[in-house]
Amino acid sequence: MQVISDIQQSQLLCQQYHNSGESIAFVPTMGCLHDGHLSLVEKAQSLADRVVVSIFVNPLQFNDPDDLSAYPRTIESDISKLSSFDIDMLFCPEVGAFYPEGEKEVEKIDLGEITTILEGEQRPGHFAGVATVVKRLFDLVQPDIAVFGEKDFQQLMVIKKLVSDFSLGIEIIGMPTFREPDGLAMSSRNIRLSEEQRQAATEIYRQLERIKNELHAGNSNFLELEQAANQRLAEAGFSPEYVVIRDTKTLLEPQSATSELVVLAAASLGEIRLIDNILL
Ligand code: PAJ
Repeated sequence: MQVISDIQQSQLLCQQYHNSGESIAFVPTMGCLHDGHLSLVEKAQSLADRVVVSIFVNPLQFNDPDDLSAYPRTIESDISKLSSFDIDMLFCPEVGAFYPEGEKEVEKIDLGEITTILEGEQRPGHFAGVATVVKRLFDLVQPDIAVFGEKDFQQLMVIKKLVSDFSLGIEIIGMPTFREPDGLAMSSRNIRLSEEQRQAATEIYRQLERIKNELHAGNSNFLELEQAANQRLAEAGFSPEYVVIRDTKTLLEPQSATSELVVLAAASLGEIRLIDNILL
């Protein structure tokens, strides 16, 4: 695995792969890698000749400066985790080199309504930051395939729209959420939870499962189910932001009985904001 921080060097290496007729699968991350990230890497390995992983804590997508500075950075242990995989390149650029025009001057990509609801509403500018960094990474790596997690369900939709709007011709693969044995979705933010918060954190998944079971049992009172889950999260010590039942295709309120559904939740425990979702 070549660890490269230089932009031009990484671009050159990816061009070499392409010139030799090799396909590239790409896994962008912000590091502090866990088994969820590694499941994407493993998938990428099975899909292309070359695998490129990036680690870059993208300042553009943090609407809260405290969240950005508290974001865990564990590059040494990340490299050692990745070493057991057959990865060709780990790209970890510096912020200044990646945004040479200066963070404030970067022209951000606006992908419309999908970026303004739910996570977009709670974190204004977040998805413009995500779309902008991912577009720049795609332009550098020029992958044939890129692998993302369903854990960030709305982000996955935003990336698919990015690829479609800019006709990038990259196949986007979504992978199921990797969970701890008690159901908590793996997240780089989990290591910041205190022992007590860690125990309470599993309540998000429990509430999502509860709604899923109720819906399967024929309960169609969405509002009541959402409100009950919000209340239970609050009782478990969370500050809930949303628990909603939505159409998987639009993330808007389901319009017909045949809609495929996803239940999405965001809630904070102290300073730590967690998101999760469950597909029906
Ligand atoms: P990050 O949070 O590091 O996540 C990198 C990738 O891992 C994303 O595609 C995310 O959905 C996936 N992932 C995270 N937790 C997962 C889990 N428990 N199971 C399966 N996949 C999981 O998402 C980002 O970084 C950034 O926004 C990024 C796309 C890299 C742009 O900066």
